[in-house]
Amino acid sequence: MAIIFHEESRCFHLYNNEVSYIMRIMENEQMENLYYGKRIHDKADFTYFHDEAMRSQMSVCIPEPGILSMQYTRQEYPVYGTGDYRSPALCIAQENGSRIVNFVYASHEIYKGKKEILPLPATYVESEDEAESLEITLHDEVMDTDLILTYTIYADYPVITRNARFEQKGNSKIVLERAMSASVEFLDMDYEMVQLSGAWSRERYVKNRKLEMGIQAVQSLNGTCCGAEHNPFVALKRVHTTENQGEVYGFSLVYSGNYLAQVEVSTFDMTRVMLGINPEDFCWELKQGESFQTPEVVMVYSDKGLNKMSQTYHRLYRKRLMRGEWRDKARPILLNNWEATYFDFNEEKILNIAKKAKEAGVELFVLDDGWFGARNDDYRGLGDWYVNLDKLPDGISGLSRKVEELGLKFGLWVELEMVNKDSDLYRAHPDWIISAPERFESHARHQNVLDFSRKEVVDYIYEMIAKVIRESSISYIKWDMNRYMTEPYSKGTDSSQQGKVMHKYILGVYDLYTRLTTEFPEILFESCASGGARFDPAMLYFAPQTWTSDDTDASERTKIQYGTSYVYPIVSMGSHVSAVPNHQLHRITPIETRANVAYFGTFGYELDLNLLSEAEMERVKKQITFMKEYRNLIQVDGDFYRLLSPFEGNETSWMVVSQNKEQAVVGFYQRLNKVNASWLRLKLAGLDENTLYEVSCDMTPSASYDDRLAEIYGARTSEEMVKTYTAYGDELMQAGIPIDREDLNKKGGDFASLIYTLKKVQD
Ligand code: DGJ
Repeated sequence: MAIIFHEESRCFHLYNNEVSYIMRIMENEQMENLYYGKRIHDKADFTYFHDEAMRSQMSVCIPEPGILSMQYTRQEYPVYGTGDYRSPALCIAQENGSRIVNFVYASHEIYKGKKEILPLPATYVESEDEAESLEITLHDEVMDTDLILTYTIYADYPVITRNARFEQKGNSKIVLERAMSASVEFLDMDYEMVQLSGAWSRERYVKNRKLEMGIQAVQSLNGTCCGAEHNPFVALKRVHTTENQGEVYGFSLVYSGNYLAQVEVSTFDMTRVMLGINPEDFCWELKQGESFQTPEVVMVYSDKGLNKMSQTYHRLYRKRLMRGEWRDKARPILLNNWEATYFDFNEEKILNIAKKAKEAGVELFVLDDGWFGARNDDYRGLGDWYVNLDKLPDGISGLSRKVEELGLKFGLWVELEMVNKDSDLYRAHPDWIISAPERFESHARHQNVLDFSRKEVVDYIYEMIAKVIRESSISYIKWDMNRYMTEPYSKGTDSSQQGKVMHKYILGVYDLYTRLTTEFPEILFESCASGGARFDPAMLYFAPQTWTSDDTDASERTKIQYGTSYVYPIVSMGSHVSAVPNHQLHRITPIETRANVAYFGTFGYELDLNLLSEAEMERVKKQITFMKEYRNLIQVDGDFYRLLSPFEGNETSWMVVSQNKEQAVVGFYQRLNKVNASWLRLKLAGLDENTLYEVSCDMTPSASYDDRLAEIYGARTSEEMVKTYTAYGDELMQAGIPIDREDLNKKGGDFASLIYTLKKVQD
């Protein structure tokens, strides 16, 4: 890994074994991008990568010695008003009303390691040798403002991170109206844009579209999170790129608020990718001595398809974005009471559910919404973070102690950013909600957004919730957030500063997370937002797992988890086995399939186990034993490979392979069963070609099949059985595993699934 500056040609080359990123200082002293892609040899001069031609009507910024025009130039950080009529990365309003700027090269610094960009979350290093960084300082003389473009290249990952920072040195006031984190340009447009889009309960579906001239973008404008609609991620892949072959560039923004991820193709086929804080309703005044830091963009290059891109994100985010005591640990198997009880519970009911969970082998009991204030439904109570003694007479401290006495850890749900109007908090502080004066105040789920852009609001909530945690024995917190912002306006902020509110809100969320994770470092945090509306990298910095979706139907989950795995590690995906008929879809799926999907995540249960049949309870115990054996491989050690896409056919498949390639777990899922169907081979990936593996599959019929036999014959006649055979890695990857349709019938027919485990046969 190195970052080289060639003084004569004024070219920078950032490279490691896999990737090269080359730029130069142009004749007008601004920065130009010359190449980004697979590693190429370093040379003293790459300036000829600059393309130039005299074109009709082009605006030339430096007539001599060349014919430099910004309109056709791939720029590192394009600005408004230069004759480049594509969207800029930057727009600054100045006191005289002008938006014309000229940021020219002033200096640069190359150093080992990577600096923090606090208060924003970002990837990090643990030792200086893991990465090298470059800071290029550009200066605008008229405003006396510095723009610092920061690049980091990791030694062991095909990753380059970028961010931009502004420092106002001059004594005039400037206003950032647009300040993107990074802009990257490509010479052609033969790409598909990959995005992860959806809605509540169908988050992060994979969507591909062929790039077209003009703008294509995804964004969030909801104020509180990236949203269920679009993830802060885009990738550009070549049209023929598959999971295991071909080029792809991933761009992931480490930010939880309003963002824009935009791809613009010029009519000369040039492609500009830009990510950062959404300029809509963003306006940041900078006075002398002040600075503004943009969030980080994590760029991953893969020449071996989408799987490699995802594996890079998984490793980096698992090891150098997540932090804290839980970062490297397999996660406890939990049971959450939400779908078991909703708001209708008392201590006895909870302990009854917890007892059965313990019997099954569950390790953590999580008490969801409804334990505080007057929270007996979703009309009231949010904001009143003191226990509802009618439901829980011994408080959270008493309940957590009793749950621990059962041999389980105790976890608690909170939704700290919200308030119901029917609450003591709102009655005391009606001006603490986000809403505009003399305007209608919309609500969603009967709740309003607390103004976290104000420090006093964050302070108050912190004190309230920290008291509950201090008094009880809490090992896990599910931090929920269930509505988007409307009528964005802060009553605690000067009218001239309202453009800062959306970003400051997110900084307030980060501040509260920082305080709570600092005071309670041993607690495992899981973020959540009406299911998976806040699945973003910045959240993983604070909470190493995220509730993936409110949709707990196993078959729908194959799509949601498949899409989520494009960027996010398996260990970060909250995934539970829930009851049937499923509460979102009323679909019935075998209990084995519900677990077979949930294994590829944090794994837990979201139902009352007391209501299961004997056969089902047996399966649950077996599932928990299985997960305890394999969770280290699935969550901590292994690499995840997508094999068959739920977006392309009736079957879904994925697998995890250990780093040493001696072990693997494979999941295969079908939607509808097929009669008299064609043969099926499941081709694996990531194995060692020359290793002989023992392949095992538990072919015990599903519990429902078992229960049906019991009904007919008065006893269960199906026997536990495991099919085993041996095969070399090359066979498993090239010829595949033959799948017996009869096994799928016994596994439940529709929505049946199989789990294969692979183990190296020791010589
Ligand atoms: C939305 C979450 O996604 C659910 O899991 C649950 O915690 C509810 N909120 C509780 O209100």
